[in-house]
Amino acid sequence: MGDMGKIRNIVILTGAGISAESGIDTFRSPGGIWERFDPDEVATAEAFARDPDKLLGFYDMRRGTLDDKHPNPAHHALGRLDAEWPGELLIVTQNVDDLHERGGARRVLHMHGEHLNALCTACDGRMPWRATLADRPACPDCGERALRPDVVLFGEVPYHMDAIFAALRQADLFVSIGTSGAVYPAAGFVQTARDLGAQTLELNLEPSEGSTWFEESRLGPASELVPAWAGEMLSGG
Ligand code: OAD
Repeated sequence: MGDMGKIRNIVILTGAGISAESGIDTFRSPGGIWERFDPDEVATAEAFARDPDKLLGFYDMRRGTLDDKHPNPAHHALGRLDAEWPGELLIVTQNVDDLHERGGARRVLHMHGEHLNALCTACDGRMPWRATLADRPACPDCGERALRPDVVLFGEVPYHMDAIFAALRQADLFVSIGTSGAVYPAAGFVQTARDLGAQTLELNLEPSEGSTWFEESRLGPASELVPAWAGEMLSGG
């Protein structure tokens, strides 16, 4: 990497690849979620309007698999970096699992929402949720049977965009971990960060779609690359 001495503010973007070694399927790898399910049927705002049962069942199924999944060394390494990094640090994740938090990270924004939250379409209330939603439980706040998963569907605006761009503007280093670079706006963060002067680093199993935008790409499993990189940062290079 370039001059590590100048790095104070770090923005880290993560995707499904960081949770792959925890046993959570990625979307676009061979055998991934979008090979087994059609996103137009289970992950778009139109699909929710057309056939809510199907979409609610898809997210109930995925939420139900989270309990026996655990953070891997990549999540733990980011948790430690978050705890010990003296400058600004923000983890922006596209993942809806809670493995960053369980790995000790505190400065995390879930731009695509969270599996373990429900959102009431009647009163806009948000609440922690572990049970199923396809059976239309009543909202604990307003009583309406109008709960949905608090995840961002295709066609909806991702969460926290103002805070994310504010952090990108201040970033000295932008690091992308385990994401294919296929979905915007996250896929464009590298260009924004770079245009504004940040160093850019990709850690991924294979070159992502936006790989050429990064000054440096390291290829391999996140469970190895992330602890090694975080260790470099904490030891000053
Ligand atoms: P993808 O499934 O598109 O990409 C996962 C990336 O992780 C690929 O580039 C893999 O090569 C890489 N990868 C796989 N295993 C890895 C490992 N052990 N270590 C490091 N890298 C590994 O997942 P995302 O990029 O996160 O959005 O997908 C972005 C968005 O598309 C998701 O948030 C979701 C999806 O549709 C919505 O549902 C709105």
